[in-house]
Amino acid sequence: MSDETLLQRLRAAEPVLWTNPGYAPQTDPQAMADVMGAKAAWARFAPLMAELWPELAPSGVIRSTLTDIADLRPALGYAAPEYGTLLVKGDHALPVAGSVKARGGVFEVLSIAVSQARGAELLYDGEDIEKLAGDDARAFFGERRIAVGSTGNLGLSVGIAARALGYKATVHMSHDAKAWKVARLQSLGVEVVQHETDYSQAVAAAREIAARDPLTHFVDDEDSLLLFKGYSAAAAELKEQLAEQGISIGPDRPLILYLPCGIGGAPGGIAHGARGVFGPDVHPFFVEPVQAPSALVQMREGLGRETSVYELGLSNRTEADGMAVATMSQLVAERMQRRLAGVFTVGDDDLFRWLALAETKGLRLEPSAASGFGGPQMLMNTHEGRAFRAMHMPTVDPARAVHVIWTTGGAFVPEEQYQGFVAKGRALGPRFDLKGVSS
Ligand SMILES: Cc1ncc(COP(=O)(O)O)c(C=O)c1O
Repeated sequence: MSDETLLQRLRAAEPVLWTNPGYAPQTDPQAMADVMGAKAAWARFAPLMAELWPELAPSGVIRSTLTDIADLRPALGYAAPEYGTLLVKGDHALPVAGSVKARGGVFEVLSIAVSQARGAELLYDGEDIEKLAGDDARAFFGERRIAVGSTGNLGLSVGIAARALGYKATVHMSHDAKAWKVARLQSLGVEVVQHETDYSQAVAAAREIAARDPLTHFVDDEDSLLLFKGYSAAAAELKEQLAEQGISIGPDRPLILYLPCGIGGAPGGIAHGARGVFGPDVHPFFVEPVQAPSALVQMREGLGRETSVYELGLSNRTEADGMAVATMSQLVAERMQRRLAGVFTVGDDDLFRWLALAETKGLRLEPSAASGFGGPQMLMNTHEGRAFRAMHMPTVDPARAVHVIWTTGGAFVPEEQYQGFVAKGRALGPRFDLKGVSS
């Protein structure tokens, strides 16, 4: 597809696969060191996490399942052996925050808590970290605030973690934040500020307000290495789970990841970590709504000029609220330049169709979280997908490839809302719009 055709199709909000010409799969010692550092930090936090969240005891580990979805293959259109091994990484059911955002948000809040407590000599080297769940620490954190801008799920994870430690917490939300997410935060004692603007403007306003208060730490979704690091450790978890299932990734058995993307932090962190642990044998793809392809337009544009989906006349409106982001994080764009295989887009109706199908197997997803199901179709049946495979896995038997669909949120969606999503998906019927994408 020429660049002109790509732009035309993006403007027309048609699903497309864009492959990254700068992509260079290789071993990555920097990413490996980052992911190992993140893994070690999570291990240090574990005793405190077990104390703060009894559902994590005794391990104190936030972890999701890796499930073979053989039963769903026919309905998804992936029954043929050429679609390889198809797995779901179930972050939709992550404990504590019910979404992938638990990995980043909880990590940043705990990192900040530890560093503030050390700075105030409340925690010394070698002391048990559980002390931070005690009364003295709570009183100390209670004088401080954690703030964040969010379309919903990051706010939930940061709000939950901050309140668990005793911090005051403020979540600035964009106009598209779901009412149930607002209500849930308020019930935890989180102050919610609703902006009549989109996500990027809500974050900018939140950043400015937070900067006025020296006792406020602002979790900056557009520019946070701590969030990025927290997400990256998921790749080490995935590697262990693949090994437990007897799946060994290598040149003849590549791993392909389909990662739902909003600002880019969660999928970027996971892609970065995956490159660290799987080297050249992993190919990460982001997926975005047709009306909000912020990573696609930024990665296509390259670094140096921040670009937005509005420039293409798109609305940034989608039922996939976690992905309603017009401009990608520049921090992530920079790190993805050579590490990201590509980006594809999907329409909202297909999100509901996949969500309803996933429900039949007990996977409780929100619309954003279902987007990765389009990945194998894009890689196997489009011109761009075929060209990508010819270039990056020319000798691989497709039946040996391992596709991981990362489902990123949903466990906390209230029942009534969730049943509405399922009903909508069923009413739309089983013919995916994406099936028509073949060139
Ligand atoms: C369910 C879900 N999936 C994916 C994402 C995308 O994460 P990021 O914005 O870090 O790219 C979000 C973001 O809120 C989300 O809520």
